[in-house]
Amino acid sequence: MLAAGQSKRMKSDTSKVLHLLAGVPLLERVINTARQLAPKNIWIVYGNHGSQLPEKMAHLNAQWVEQREQLGTGHAVMQALPHLKDDETILVLYGDVPLISAASLEKLLTATASSDSLGILTTFRQNPQGYGRIVRNERGSVIAIVEQKDLKEGQENIKEINTGILAIPANHLKKWLPLLKNHNAQGEYYLTDIIALAAQQQCPIVTVTTVTEEETQGVNDRSELARLERYYQLQQAHHLMLQGVTLMDPHRFDLRGELTVARDTTFDINIIIEGKVTIGTNCFIGPYVLLHNVTLGDNVTIKANCVIEDAIIKDNCVIGPFARIRPGTELESEVHVGNFVELKKSHIDSGTKIPHLSYIGDAEIGKKVNIGAGVITCNYNGVSKSVTTIKDGAFVGSDSQLIAPVTVGENAYIGSGSTITKDAPPNQLTLARAKQTTIANWKKPEKK
Ligand code: UD1
Ligand code: CA
Repeated sequence: MLAAGQSKRMKSDTSKVLHLLAGVPLLERVINTARQLAPKNIWIVYGNHGSQLPEKMAHLNAQWVEQREQLGTGHAVMQALPHLKDDETILVLYGDVPLISAASLEKLLTATASSDSLGILTTFRQNPQGYGRIVRNERGSVIAIVEQKDLKEGQENIKEINTGILAIPANHLKKWLPLLKNHNAQGEYYLTDIIALAAQQQCPIVTVTTVTEEETQGVNDRSELARLERYYQLQQAHHLMLQGVTLMDPHRFDLRGELTVARDTTFDINIIIEGKVTIGTNCFIGPYVLLHNVTLGDNVTIKANCVIEDAIIKDNCVIGPFARIRPGTELESEVHVGNFVELKKSHIDSGTKIPHLSYIGDAEIGKKVNIGAGVITCNYNGVSKSVTTIKDGAFVGSDSQLIAPVTVGENAYIGSGSTITKDAPPNQLTLARAKQTTIANWKKPEKK
């Protein structure tokens, strides 16, 4: 896998192949695809400011080969030669062609499997500008690949292009790579020049066309990256719609992770899905919602402008608009969370309502509890966090503060505006606020 390019056109301090497509680094996408082919080894050629790669991509368990100077694709593959065994078939992939499909690669490997042949993955492009062209003789056999900058008259019109992806026996690479010259427009050692050498030595050359044209699209600058992102997002959106999910506008849907959705769920516009998200049947996700590692049960409604991270929300819950649900929150069924409510690391049992302007953190809340507007769990003393427990059926009046650790008993009633510092007993009214007084004979101050 070649990933040592200079990425000049990205104008970035980060290696091009670490830029994200639908939330996953380009290089990681290619590796995930390559793994589907069960290769013996994956060698990644890195270099230039890709020197961060082995460290940043350590989780990929690939093998790394450094190319100190970027002298061309042929030179890049040469760096890996000492690691390759003669009887192995080498598949050359590109770290900046992220959407190449396993199906196309399998086609290429199958076509070259039985013989000593060299396989080239090609595609036909209406506009072949920028790509190496497949040159054939009058009998239709491939005789060379000519790079854009080295095209001779008449060759510009060739629409069959080199995707760059090759399958080739290692012993051929070892024979031909050392023969490459850099006498060309870019002064580089072109991997593609081995095609002419193979043709001269009567090595059979097979071409296989990709399943789709888009999968061969490389990423050279941020504009191409954005175009590919849109293409990929639309593909994912179509896939979901075919599974029975309604997307109000497939052009305004962004899936940057893994999503499993049951049928008859509806997504309004501008929803972002990150990490691992599972959604049941008959849910409605309103506009401008971010879901990050979230599990939703069935019949859940998420109203507009909610941000939900690392949370589990069970059947028939109604959330938002403008709710923020932070990590470690679990809502049992039929919980209602209204506007401007923040929940963190709390378990809230079924039928409970938190309709307006609350902060609930580190709390254990029972069934059918009513939390009034503006209730706050004071869970942090500047050093440590403490738990607030509210038992089944309790009613916490508006604008109350619960200073944790504290417990509100079953069916307890907390009067509005209370500051609760001690446990409130079950079935009783607890008030903790100054008594209201009215000053007799008071006079409004007058200006002199
Ligand atoms: C290459 C092919 C061209 C093909 C096109 C498809 C050659 C000479 N040309 O052209 O026929 O149509 O891909 O996209 O192979 N790289 C290194 N080390 C280097 C140079 C490049 O690792 O010294 C890596 C780059 O990171 C990149 C890949 O090789 O992933 C291709 O290099 P690039 O310079 O982009 O080649 P193209 O001009 O696009
Ligand atoms: Ca390229």
